[in-house]
Amino acid sequence: MTLLKVGVLVSGRGSNLEAILKAVGSGVIKGAEVSVVISNMPDARALGVARRYGVKAVGLPSEGVAREDYDGMLVEALRRHGVEPGKGLVLLAGYMKMLSKYFVELYQGRIMNIHPSLLPSFPGLNAQRQALEYGVKISGCTVHFVVPEVDAGPIILQKAVEIHRGDTEETLALRILRQEHRIYPQAVKLFVEGRLKVEGRRTVAAR
Ligand code: GRF
Repeated sequence: MTLLKVGVLVSGRGSNLEAILKAVGSGVIKGAEVSVVISNMPDARALGVARRYGVKAVGLPSEGVAREDYDGMLVEALRRHGVEPGKGLVLLAGYMKMLSKYFVELYQGRIMNIHPSLLPSFPGLNAQRQALEYGVKISGCTVHFVVPEVDAGPIILQKAVEIHRGDTEETLALRILRQEHRIYPQAVKLFVEGRLKVEGRRTVAAR
């Protein structure tokens, strides 16, 4: 059986990356391999996480590079590791740079992201702070397909998290993160097993 090649784009800590690597390593996700992890921040902790799991880690600094040029470099690096448009899967895991329309269209329907709020509430940066400032009682996390507009693609999985009295951005972020580590691997598993179908804005998971 040929394995689905997965490329993960990161910028920082890499805890979602680690959750996915664990799920692949333990056989929870079968039929896929993470073949490369690419960071636009050359000293991201996530690169060390990748190496620890024996996965090729590539630092590809984005500073001073125009978005489309940078995304061209990304495509090259992904393809070099077998993550081909129309075949591979690209996961954004704390990737802090916007993707160009060119990239999103090239890997259309094959890019996922995790966001720390219940979209469409609180897209963009500092989602946990936005939730606290708004005063919602429930927030959570969302795995969605990526479209050119930020945090706007069809939703794959969501998990609600209660906001506690006295929560700070940090305590809330941590409570949400625990759920991120559960639903991101689950969503990847559904994709790898060919069980996700997108109908307009809606994603249907076959049983
Ligand atoms: C997570 O909260 C994720 O939802 C957001 O960025 C953070 C990345 O954390 N997109 P990590 O690098 O996976 O630890």
